[in-house]
Amino acid sequence: MLQALAAGAGLAAAPWPLRTARAATAPDLVLRLTAAPDTVRIRPGGETAVLRYTGQVLRGRADALRPSASYLGPTLELRRGERVRIEFRNRLADPSIIHWHGMIVPEAADGHPRFAVGPGGEYVYEFTVTNPAGTYLYHPHPHGLTGAQVYRGLAGLLIVREAQERAWGLPGPEHELSLVIQDRRLAGDNRLEFKRMMMDDMNGVLGDTVLVNGVAAAAFRVAPRPWRLRLVNASNARIYKLAWSDDRPMRVIASGNGLLSAAEGIQTRPYVVLAPFERIELLEDFGTRRPGSEVALVSREFASLGMMGGMMGGGMMGRGMEDMMRGMMGPGQGEALPVARFDVGTQARTAGEELRLPPAPRSPREGHELHTRLAFRHMRGFLDGRRFKMEAVADDERLPLDEGTVWTFANDGGPMAMAHPMHIHGVRFRVLERSTGDAPADLREGLVDAGFKDTFLIFPGERVRLLVAPTEPGLFMYHCHNLEHEDGGMMRNCRFEARSPAGRT
Ligand code: C2O
Ligand code: CU
Repeated sequence: MLQALAAGAGLAAAPWPLRTARAATAPDLVLRLTAAPDTVRIRPGGETAVLRYTGQVLRGRADALRPSASYLGPTLELRRGERVRIEFRNRLADPSIIHWHGMIVPEAADGHPRFAVGPGGEYVYEFTVTNPAGTYLYHPHPHGLTGAQVYRGLAGLLIVREAQERAWGLPGPEHELSLVIQDRRLAGDNRLEFKRMMMDDMNGVLGDTVLVNGVAAAAFRVAPRPWRLRLVNASNARIYKLAWSDDRPMRVIASGNGLLSAAEGIQTRPYVVLAPFERIELLEDFGTRRPGSEVALVSREFASLGMMGGMMGGGMMGRGMEDMMRGMMGPGQGEALPVARFDVGTQARTAGEELRLPPAPRSPREGHELHTRLAFRHMRGFLDGRRFKMEAVADDERLPLDEGTVWTFANDGGPMAMAHPMHIHGVRFRVLERSTGDAPADLREGLVDAGFKDTFLIFPGERVRLLVAPTEPGLFMYHCHNLEHEDGGMMRNCRFEARSPAGRT
């Protein structure tokens, strides 16, 4: 089948498509994740009522779970090739189910909303970790409730590690930081405020405070040397334009689903645009800054939108609408939002090793084509004029297994045009081509389309062509990852299946 090109120096690329072995034999690792109400301290003042995942290692490496200091779930530290069983227990008042965002897992382990379990219920997942080293997420996926549950705290990081990472010259775990970026609106008594107005269903729920790893005004002390930074947008709707306060370029080594390849190399950008549930990894050498200095990660305003601290393509609406929205969004908009502060240590600078990115796997044959038109009307999103139905899958939502499908997404312009972060379950894909739409240059410059992705942002008027090659048979889904759009039905099933002998797919 499609094999990795094991090029030079024993560096092997992840094959593409990735194959999953069923966890037929005993798992290496058994974890339990429980979702339940809790209270945490997010900022000075009162405690905040949240929903939270807590975890336990029932069998295997004790370091497979790293507890979080705030409301986020524990970070899952998995190794490529490991067989994992995860027992999910729902101790919430509503149905829920966990989706492993970006992971290629069997249909039954994907966390489709049809698998949601009620209060008191349990769901057992089994899969083998096939994804390459990278930054992934887990979050709830019950239909219509995802936005509310994520907003109240249910989400966590899933990190996949590989033995070769050291050989590639990446900073080790002791020199990496993960920043899970979320915006929240906290009332005076520190209560989380969710939907407050009709606009929230259209734009998605936006906060006025940026939290990193569940805390306000996050700060990190870093030794003057290269660091691996995992930037993760786990916000319901906000799109960030992340930049260094001293205007140094961002050096991108991963754009979503695993590292960039040697052929693509480190990609530098003046800033990176990060949409909900996208991840990006940076290699940042703090040793090039003055010892004892301070630098901040900020989210800049999208100049061309002129609204809401650069939240989303809602700014593609008419000017009058923009002004109205700006008024409604309250203070703090229109300026750079501080995300996190980094204090550079004063010890002698340590250099890193030279980074060698893994080679790219060979692409699958392109045998099939699909087209999906995105539209937003009457406060709701549509995928080819359709909305989500739990089991429904149309003929033109079927993809053949084990070959490449070129899937074209076209985002209609029009009066309600907005940007949508689109996500496909059960696959990692490449962006083949992005047409120039109505999006101003300052939005496009910060996109990283290289590498493998599972979520991509599409601006109004744009057409984006993806190369997708599913390996897991079954019913998966694709949807807008603005959680209010998703809950509103901008989501559809897709089926990955073997081509019938007649050639119908
Ligand atoms: Cu991250 Cu269908 O979700
Ligand atoms: Cu959307």
